[in-house]
Amino acid sequence: MRTPVMAANWKMHKTIPDTIGFIDTFITLVRDIPQDREIVIAPPFTALETVCRAFLGRKNLHVAAQNMHYEEKGAFTGEISPVMLSDLGVSMVILGHSERRHVFGESNELISRKVVSAISHDIKPIFCIGETLEQREAGDTVKVLESQLSEGLSQVSESDMENVIVAYEPVWAIGTGKTATPDQAQDAHDSVRAWISEHFNSGIAEQIRILYGGSVKPENVNELMALPDVDGALVGGAALDPHSFAAIAGCEI
Ligand code: 13P
Repeated sequence: MRTPVMAANWKMHKTIPDTIGFIDTFITLVRDIPQDREIVIAPPFTALETVCRAFLGRKNLHVAAQNMHYEEKGAFTGEISPVMLSDLGVSMVILGHSERRHVFGESNELISRKVVSAISHDIKPIFCIGETLEQREAGDTVKVLESQLSEGLSQVSESDMENVIVAYEPVWAIGTGKTATPDQAQDAHDSVRAWISEHFNSGIAEQIRILYGGSVKPENVNELMALPDVDGALVGGAALDPHSFAAIAGCEI
């Protein structure tokens, strides 16, 4: 019912030659993967054009940016606008990633402006939320997720909400090799869907794709994808190798 999304977040990895090498192998490996899923790669800005060209005309392969400014243009040194991303053929953007929140101090308010801007430029936001270990241990996981959802999606209308993809990435599972247990992931995803049902409506909640991110690997992806409220994965380290990401993208669904 919900089309799964298997997404790679390359973070600050890969030059253009590295990207070409990856894509050459990856495209061959995913040729026979069922078309019942969307496969997404989010390379660094410098490699977006390379991946966009390689994926041109391939219906189930999509390109995402890892960040975006909310304005179309202006005096914002070092920023990239939604218009510039659309220009390249980028159709999705990761927003509010935990590294943007915690390393670069992005606030819910800033992220919320970016989410609205992406939607208005026909770029689907992959809107990331997740609790720290301290927050989980204090029993605040649901409270944290709800406040990130309510602030980050505060300006999104009901009709625009169907274009949002949510990614639940517990901060303590990112890059640590520590994956959330199936129960932890299912509970978090279920609470996200319940919040969407309450604040938008149950139809939208049923449609929204909620991805899990945090130490996803070929060895654990099937178990995660078998959970009723997990609709895909956002993968960091294990998506840097074409064989490993192709195994994840081609998981049992
Ligand atoms: P890892 O898969 O390396 O834990 O990274 C997850 C992530 O941050 C994806 O956005």
